[in-house]
Amino acid sequence: MKLIEVKDYQEMSRVAADYLLSKVKKSNKITLGLATGGTPQGLYQELINDHQENKTSYQHVSSFNLDEYIGLSGNHPNSYCHYMKENLFNHIDIPLENTHIPSGKAADLDGECQAYDEKIHSEGGIDLQVLGIGSNGHIGFNEPGTSFDSPTHIVELTPSTREANARYFDSIEEVPSHAITMGIASILKSKEILLLASGHSKQDAMKKLVEGKISEDFPASVLNRHSNVTVIADEEALALLKNHKLLTR
Ligand code: F6R
Repeated sequence: MKLIEVKDYQEMSRVAADYLLSKVKKSNKITLGLATGGTPQGLYQELINDHQENKTSYQHVSSFNLDEYIGLSGNHPNSYCHYMKENLFNHIDIPLENTHIPSGKAADLDGECQAYDEKIHSEGGIDLQVLGIGSNGHIGFNEPGTSFDSPTHIVELTPSTREANARYFDSIEEVPSHAITMGIASILKSKEILLLASGHSKQDAMKKLVEGKISEDFPASVLNRHSNVTVIADEEALALLKNHKLLTR
């Protein structure tokens, strides 16, 4: 795991954008894995700014999002489908038909999960997966205890995750109880992973990720088994780390 320490959220977003843009510009065809939440919003804004200023094209890019709430349609303002359009897709030239997000309204949710993994496979897999991290170590919506072998599946969200996400809803009661998430096995199949973390609330998680043991009790720890992971995290998120040998600036 390569760990890049940056000053703050803004620098994390800029460094992550440069990283991703270098891959997008170099390739004729690239499949990105994308996350939602607060962490990648700055990255997406940087990509939009770059698209407007430098005209970087996404015509050759396809994407798969990590997760979606069950019960929300794609145009619900709190759906991740809506988030992606608002925060990125509507502002760059990626063909919408190249973008994939699991449907939280599918009649056959198990079938939707299986079809999602098959679709990723049929597109040749994910070249670069962007991840945030939950304070309990979740990646996607893979909560503590999730099997490292899990494919895309349905999860019941923990109270702490529902609380963390309640900031986007009018009340915690409105936060859906279940979601579809790419599984840990699905995430690990990505050729390369870029995990972003910023701020005080991620301190414990970053310490466990870098210094803790690999355990299903802390899902992100599995990333230590992947051969191509880069973490870009800010000083605040890394404040509890003792093992500064890993850091490059
Ligand atoms: C989002 C996702 C989640 C978030 C995590 C951190 O698609 O899969 O794992 O990355 O909950 O969320 P933020 O970035 O809001 O702190």
